[in-house]
Amino acid sequence: MQVLITPSILAADLGHLQQEVESIEPYADWIQVDVMDGHFVPNLSFGAPVLQCVKTTLPLDIHLMVANPADRLREFLDLHVKNITFHAEVVQETGPRKALIEAIHKGGAMAGIALSPDTPVSSINDVVNDVDLVLVMSVYPGFSGQEFLPHVLEKVRALRKDHPTRMIQVDGGVDGKVAPHCREAGANNLVSASFIFDAKDRGAAIQRLRGA
Ligand code: DX5
Repeated sequence: MQVLITPSILAADLGHLQQEVESIEPYADWIQVDVMDGHFVPNLSFGAPVLQCVKTTLPLDIHLMVANPADRLREFLDLHVKNITFHAEVVQETGPRKALIEAIHKGGAMAGIALSPDTPVSSINDVVNDVDLVLVMSVYPGFSGQEFLPHVLEKVRALRKDHPTRMIQVDGGVDGKVAPHCREAGANNLVSASFIFDAKDRGAAIQRLRGA
């Protein structure tokens, strides 16, 4: 199964964001943008105005760690992003979940749903067949540089068993050591921030995550 590598710009030098993005562009498949609102997670990050300043040929993957995802779709859809992921814990009812997924699809993007480390796979049974991507968080959302939580690999295995072709993304503490376990469990999209942006050779770090 082909594995996509998605650097998260959360650990990039934001004072030189364009150069940081260009440094990973030849090696990466997607770029993840972690949008934080200081409510769903304690931290604040960036939004569409910052992204508008960045030029890249890579598909943009928006991870919405916000309490009101429905209010934040338009600004990213207008930027023609590849994927928008919202959190299962924020939108718990089926109707609003389906409405969000439909709005994302109508806007021309893929739709993803994210599970925080303690949220079970069964909590998304209602929409798992409607989304294009399931993001299995392997740290508690909010900060880069945290340690990978191995118990989430069980969720990846369970999802892969039932959904052989779905995109399954793992995000949080993914480095060269845990990446093989993520791939073996069935993940086919690995997000990584500090392992890539702290590396002296970012291309080599990305190749290591890919297992190539
Ligand atoms: C955490 C973010 C992750 C984070 C990963 O809330 O969703 O994307 O940037 O950072 P690392 O790879 O450093 O754990």
